[in-house]
Amino acid sequence: MGPVLQRKPRLSVSRPKGQEGKRSDPLSLPQPAPRVAAIPLVKLCYTGVHAAEAVGIRDLADGEFSPTDTTLEEGIERQLNYLLDEVGCTRPGFRLLEIGCGYGSLLRLAAARGARAVGVNLSPEQVRYCRHQGLQVYCCNYRDLYDAAEWCGQFDGVIANGSLEHWVQPEDVRDGRMDAIYRESFEIVHRMLDPRTPNARYVTTAIHVQREVKPEYLLTPWYRHPRGSDRRHFSLLHNWMGGYYPVAGQLEACARPHFALTKEADGTTGYKIANDFRMARMMRGLYTSPKLVWRLARMVAMHPAIGMTMLECYYIEKSWDWQFQGDDPPMRLLRHTWTVNREAGSD
Ligand SMILES: C[S@@+](CC[C@H](N)C(=O)[O-])C[C@H]1O[C@@H](n2cnc3c(N)ncnc32)[C@H](O)[C@@H]1O
Repeated sequence: MGPVLQRKPRLSVSRPKGQEGKRSDPLSLPQPAPRVAAIPLVKLCYTGVHAAEAVGIRDLADGEFSPTDTTLEEGIERQLNYLLDEVGCTRPGFRLLEIGCGYGSLLRLAAARGARAVGVNLSPEQVRYCRHQGLQVYCCNYRDLYDAAEWCGQFDGVIANGSLEHWVQPEDVRDGRMDAIYRESFEIVHRMLDPRTPNARYVTTAIHVQREVKPEYLLTPWYRHPRGSDRRHFSLLHNWMGGYYPVAGQLEACARPHFALTKEADGTTGYKIANDFRMARMMRGLYTSPKLVWRLARMVAMHPAIGMTMLECYYIEKSWDWQFQGDDPPMRLLRHTWTVNREAGSD
């Protein structure tokens, strides 16, 4: 199936019968106090990625496509509905937290189901967009929630859709902090969940590597690696996006004792198709969207090293697409459903 370039329908926001026109009250939550500074490279990456918003790209994770789909957003909406069903957001009043909420598509869909949806996000550009849409979104590092007492126990479910890949940096891996960061993330999510919610769940989607990648490859400048090599792609990806991927099974070990893995689904094909749609729109935008070109040029002018790496990575060496290509792609996108482990005495 090839991407079809056309103007995008907005995500449908029909409410359950009887809920039409009703808007759920926002949750009363203060801005979390700063605890861990956001990684500057990750923040800057989303300043660069904001260029894509100029061509209507506001969904930055995987999709779930059917053969008759002709647009990116159809596959995105199907994937988001899957995540909402998995987390149990199927009744009005459900209190949902999304970590790394992007431009807020999932929060909007949850609100359409009658949920009280809250997002945290470290990208100021995206937070501004979300707030303009009337969404309840806080600009902070999710790690600030660890000490946010008023947030504890306030949610029935939590989703992290494509944000986890940014939580660990190669320096953390080199210095042996990787598992501790994942363990802390599960502890934070556990704290956010209301202990009285039956069957409370956490749903994640994350790119995984087949085998652990040496952090030195990512810490070495990409232009020092041979062109076309895996090491060069990994270095390009990190030096644009700021992040590191887990290996299969790693998150499950780090989730204990707070969560048990209750479902795993492979979304690799859906990610590849979503990327194909995005790439087609981004290529076309180079010729048709002055706003896209202006934002890319501004990124290069203001942050030359990262801006050039972004262009090299995305448009020239196509490292983002490389991740999901071939019959046995180097990465897999795994969707995980985690259920609170009440018996483990983790409360
Ligand atoms: C790949 S985008 C996915 C966005 C959105 N979930 C979607 O599907 O379009 C990753 C998101 O996670 C956010 N993010 C990354 N690290 C974060 C952190 N430590 N705390 C809060 N947000 C973070 C980014 O700003 C971005 O919005």
